Amino acid sequence: MRYGQFDDKRREYVINRPDTPLPWINYLGCEAYFGIISNTAGGYSFYRDARLRRLTRYRYNNAPFDFGGRYIYLRDRANGDFWSPTWQPTRRPVERYSCRHGMGYTIIGSTFAGIRAEVLYFVPLGQNLEIWQLSVTNEREEPVSLSAFSSVEFCLWDAWDDATNFQRNFSTGQVEVEQGVIYHKTEYRERRNHFAYFACSEKPTGFDTQRDVFLGPYRGWEAPAAVERGSSFNSIAYGWAPIGSHQVDLTLHPKETRNVIFLLGYHENPQDEKFDPPQSQTINKRTVRPVIEKYLAKPNADAAFTELKDHWNRLLGVLQVDTPSIDTDRMVNIWNAYQCMVTFNMSRSASFYESGIGRGMGFRDSNQDLLGFVHMIPERARERIVDLAATQLATGGAFHQYQTLTKRGNNDIGSGFNDDPLWLILGTAAYIKESGDWSILDEMVPYENQAGTETPLYDHLQRCIRYTLERLGPHELPLIGRADWNDCLNLNCFSDTPGQSFQTTTNKDGKVAESVFIGGLFVLAAKELADLAYKRGLEQECLCYVAAAEKMEATVLEHGWDGEWFLRAYDDFGHKLGSAENEEGKIFIEPQGICILAGIGQRDGRAAKALAAVRERLATPHGIVLQQPAFSRYYLHLGEISSYPPGYKENAGIFCHTNPWIMIAEAMSGNGDEALDYYLRINPSARESISEVHRCEPYVYPQMIAGRDAPTHGEAKNSWLSGTAAWNYAAITQWILGIRPEYEGLRIDPVIPRSWSGFRATRQFRGNSYAIEVRNTQGVCRGVKKIVVDGVEVPGNLVPLADSAGRTIQVEVDLEG
Ligand code: BGC
Ligand code: NOJ
Repeated sequence: MRYGQFDDKRREYVINRPDTPLPWINYLGCEAYFGIISNTAGGYSFYRDARLRRLTRYRYNNAPFDFGGRYIYLRDRANGDFWSPTWQPTRRPVERYSCRHGMGYTIIGSTFAGIRAEVLYFVPLGQNLEIWQLSVTNEREEPVSLSAFSSVEFCLWDAWDDATNFQRNFSTGQVEVEQGVIYHKTEYRERRNHFAYFACSEKPTGFDTQRDVFLGPYRGWEAPAAVERGSSFNSIAYGWAPIGSHQVDLTLHPKETRNVIFLLGYHENPQDEKFDPPQSQTINKRTVRPVIEKYLAKPNADAAFTELKDHWNRLLGVLQVDTPSIDTDRMVNIWNAYQCMVTFNMSRSASFYESGIGRGMGFRDSNQDLLGFVHMIPERARERIVDLAATQLATGGAFHQYQTLTKRGNNDIGSGFNDDPLWLILGTAAYIKESGDWSILDEMVPYENQAGTETPLYDHLQRCIRYTLERLGPHELPLIGRADWNDCLNLNCFSDTPGQSFQTTTNKDGKVAESVFIGGLFVLAAKELADLAYKRGLEQECLCYVAAAEKMEATVLEHGWDGEWFLRAYDDFGHKLGSAENEEGKIFIEPQGICILAGIGQRDGRAAKALAAVRERLATPHGIVLQQPAFSRYYLHLGEISSYPPGYKENAGIFCHTNPWIMIAEAMSGNGDEALDYYLRINPSARESISEVHRCEPYVYPQMIAGRDAPTHGEAKNSWLSGTAAWNYAAITQWILGIRPEYEGLRIDPVIPRSWSGFRATRQFRGNSYAIEVRNTQGVCRGVKKIVVDGVEVPGNLVPLADSAGRTIQVEVDLEG
């Protein structure tokens, strides 16, 4: 069953009933000011950091699920009837409801008693504000007199403190209201130089800023007292809960449409120009007024919306494909690329499943996310790599995450995840392959953000490798530390106390438990660094990395192979995990994926065996589960992985992030049918028709789909912020379609289903646009017979770099068996 449909032309998903199984959300903003918005206008906004600069409040994990938002009420002044065009918060039944989630904007509209209303929400490029453009049309035969009430609830900036420290916060809230603009200035008088504002393009007939006056005692947002009685109270908040609400009265002739713009924004003043007059406590509005005026004017708001659309056309235009599979085209051309940009901005911080107060930018996460966005915004990828590397520890290790506002690493989820540093090499290599910018390796970057510790980025990468080599265990495999990619495989934790964090508790000295996964990852990273060293003219060093990779490969083959598949780990007792000899957790997906990606077992048939085992033991129609058999009880020595009920999350859920590793492994093995089959099993668009089972948004990947051991097999959770986005993008574009940026050119090595007669793609790369046509007349999966570039045949399957830029280059590719 579907709850809407794709509108690919407009790059929108159109939801046509408000009661989706879960809130189906979208993101506003792509630079510094951001918002999350659901299909019923729920969500919140923040400047840069969802925890430290939160503008509006949100009620997490509420009933109804999604509560707190950008709500508008309309009231018919003749009979007092009122409703919300976005359905929430009144939830009065509306007609012709639709929510169009697009690239950086959302339009929600409906009709109630002959009144059509639609709200467009977006953040103009380069601005720290959001526009809500309300248009109301009177579809009745007679004139109508309406009042519109806007509403936001301000958060007192630090969202964590806001949600916990009431004894203080109930006394700190402050606002100013001037010419209809509501200014939220809590703590502005002391250590803040920023404030929020909420403005309206019409002269309001009233306003409210104190929540409990607007709502009335013992009332909720469904029926605010001000709306019910039809006039605002003009309340001024002192302490308690500051809100912003305007009342705008509109009279519309039959068929008339009126537009009203509301602006919610963030503004900073220089420290010494905070007040006007300087000795007062009144906000200096000199620099904010022109911004407000500009965007309250409809032509300017319209122009900003056009600019936003152009921006997304440019970004998505870097790669567009035309294949026989609509689900592939739609995800590659629109939604998967868009989701990758969202993970670039948010990492794992703010979604409807991440509160925005718990986590910053993940070290391993952001490095992997890079794979999905580097081609669209290489300059920002560069900045991200440098920011990440600057939080690296001098040991080569990493803080697990850092806060965007401060760019400092923190230990909230611990550190000592021994895979973390290796991802920095993969991220950096991906950046150089895309951009050709070798200068990044010479960029001076500090350790732990300490001035005076700067070394070239290349030195950071060397330390990443050393970090692993200095932490090998009894089998010479890498020690796992707190965990590897699988945060929940906590082999040194042994936690038996409620409330302990599995990620920060360590009861073992960590000298025994080893990870085969990190072994595979090390081989992959060491090979990448060997290439970088070679290109820098460091041949000796290159050979050292090659030798280190070979040695680790031999170790993995000797101690990390179980007979039919790769082992997962050795636990703190030195016992195998992910082996046929285990009762539960016999086979895990991660080492099968990463070891094959690293090239291990390709020559001797072990890769093929491992892939067969995955197909036989882990694959389900809804995707590939993380391991089998699921852990049916808690194992003290395995940690959080066994704390989840079977089938959920890391305990045998379909942890989507890992599935593309298998798709890539299949592609590397030449199995185009298998690769695309796995791709489509978790492709959200391909699952749209089972939305009642899948339940999350059909336009973005979730982190997890319940595995075969779960009673809700097939149900997705934790949509949007997941490495799944970047890895699926890499799997389909670079390995299945096979268009792969490399140092010396664009590799074209498709591994597609036999049934595909070919596909087309346009790819911008190093200043040129490549128009690629792949023809598969022989019905094969793989094998480039001939590549013709602008009429000239080139050897092999690498399209070499062009010697001039700004051109469109025609690339014709013929496949053979
Ligand atoms: C989750 C993991 C997550 C970890 C760190 C665990 O509870 O299952 O997916 O990576 O927490 O936040
Ligand atoms: C989510 C985390 O953000 C990611 O870093 C980790 O690899 C996966 N969970 C698996 O545990």
